[in-house]
Amino acid sequence: MMRHLLRDDDLSPAEQAEVLELAAAMKAAPFEHRPLEGPRTVAMVFDKPTLRTQVSFGAGVAELGGFPMLVDGALAGIGHRESVADVARILGRQAAAIAWRTFHQSDLEEMAAHAGVPVVNALTDDFHPCQLLADLMTVREHKPQLAGLTVTFFGDGACNMGSSWLLAGATAGMHVRISAPEGYVPSDEVFARANEIGEQTGGSATWVVDPREAAAGSDVVVTDTWVSMGKEEEAAARTEVFAPYAVTQALFETAEPDAIAMHCLPAYRGKEIAAEVLDGIQSVAWDEAENRRHAQKAVLAWLLERAGAGER
Ligand code: NVA
Repeated sequence: MMRHLLRDDDLSPAEQAEVLELAAAMKAAPFEHRPLEGPRTVAMVFDKPTLRTQVSFGAGVAELGGFPMLVDGALAGIGHRESVADVARILGRQAAAIAWRTFHQSDLEEMAAHAGVPVVNALTDDFHPCQLLADLMTVREHKPQLAGLTVTFFGDGACNMGSSWLLAGATAGMHVRISAPEGYVPSDEVFARANEIGEQTGGSATWVVDPREAAAGSDVVVTDTWVSMGKEEEAAARTEVFAPYAVTQALFETAEPDAIAMHCLPAYRGKEIAAEVLDGIQSVAWDEAENRRHAQKAVLAWLLERAGAGER
């Protein structure tokens, strides 16, 4: 069966650990792993804005010996000009793998069902698993081990990053807290799935409304924009509802003294995170951004190995 990375729990705990190990090895020796030598092509398809994802996939595919082919989703008209299934068949005949940033998780699943090559979620409304692999890799660089750590995500828990932290964090054996107001928490399905995984790994998933209570004892403090791509029209209301969840210096100091601050970027200083936290010495945001490249290289290599050596 063709393997894909569509959501964070597509990797079992052992597989996630394997991918993180590979990512660390690739970071240590960036030009020694060349599974895309040929070069084989990886299609990078974007229906939403991108900076880190485009440049980290582009540079990463090149380092793997491959050719990163950029596809503008608007020009292609995926789902409008032609169906997702037909686009999948076309891309799968040209590329060895596909990374797609789009809105609906169901469209990504349809792409995977018809592409015939591995498909990687480069962000949907629901999940951002590439960012989570980079983030877990980053935490591992700063803490002795992932299992047993407490990580708290502040703000819009219902966005892709909140759900991905629950699934990927629980897979790594972490205790993941979502600190968000009512109506902005991950779905019951995601909470239940994270706790089910946690039964295996020792991790857990909880919702803590009060931000100070949530920060206490946290080893990792995470936030994300309050206005995810596609939610621009709700900006004013969101700025109000999330204000108590801003990661200020005072809130950050409520966490463990050696806590690290994380942000997937782009960041809005003075809104979801204070400049002194994001630019402070306990911030690892820039490591996260770099680690996107290493983590995605590892995912592509891992998936392609399981897909077998195709012609493309
Ligand atoms: N939640 C954010 C993540 C950006 C990388 C968004 O979807 O816009």
